Amino acid sequence: MANPNKMKIALLGGTGHLGIGLAIRFAILGHEVIVGSRRLEKAQMKAEEYNNILKSLGEKARIKGLANEDAASEAEISIFTIPWEHAFSTAEFLKEALKEKIVVSPLVPMEKRGNAFYYTKLPEGSAAERLASILESRVVSAYHTIPAEKFARFNESFEWDVAVCGDDERAKKIVIELTNQIDGLRAYDAGPLAVSSMIESITPLLINIMVRNKLKDLGVRFV
Ligand SMILES: NC(=O)c1ccc[n+]([C@@H]2O[C@H](COP(=O)([O-])OP(=O)(O)OC[C@H]3O[C@@H](n4cnc5c(N)ncnc54)[C@H](OP(=O)(O)O)[C@@H]3O)[C@@H](O)[C@H]2O)c1
Repeated sequence: MANPNKMKIALLGGTGHLGIGLAIRFAILGHEVIVGSRRLEKAQMKAEEYNNILKSLGEKARIKGLANEDAASEAEISIFTIPWEHAFSTAEFLKEALKEKIVVSPLVPMEKRGNAFYYTKLPEGSAAERLASILESRVVSAYHTIPAEKFARFNESFEWDVAVCGDDERAKKIVIELTNQIDGLRAYDAGPLAVSSMIESITPLLINIMVRNKLKDLGVRFV
């Protein structure tokens, strides 16, 4: 069994909004973090930027940048921090590299119609199930309700819950343990992968509430 205290974690498309917060926070915890990108140069540039943030926080620079396919090959666990419309073609491309490994889906399929956001229903049931149908990996669904911008402000605190679901119990346990290591996050087992649409659809709800009530950075807390 993998040691959840020291894992090789790839953020595929980790150069964007959600990637930075996860990369820096997992690196602070001592995990081996790889930032993936479609372009090696961009991955290396972002890794340098993230390492500078780590240094400014008094931490060791320990993040490296690789092309997504190399990041997926090296890592034990890969997180798809890629917009959902592009995640599935990326999954086809990375299928071999991700075989039998843990893959985390924070994907939120949603669209704006008029002045509201709606959850986009997929034939497989959810984005995580679609990812699982493409990959031969141990897919776990998590992190959908983390507001990325606040998560990437490392001097601020928060208290957010993370609903985690998946069919591979060991993989889910590892993701829950990893998540609980991050200060301010509390992970809960929410069931099998088939419940993922319920978790994914919370995000457009949060966004609608934020927009209409002039609020920012809403997360969820189960009380
Ligand atoms: N933003 C949030 O607050 C938030 C919160 C929870 C969950 N999520 C979910 O997390 C995922 C990432 O969200 P994000 O806001 O971090 O996304 P993002 O910043 O818009 O994009 C992340 C990265 O995706 C890669 N990418 C863009 N187009 C691509 C394509 N055609 N093919 C492959 N890769 C592509 C880019 O990396 P390269 O150019 O380096 O390849 C980009 O930096 C989404 O599925 C979203 O639903 C987001």
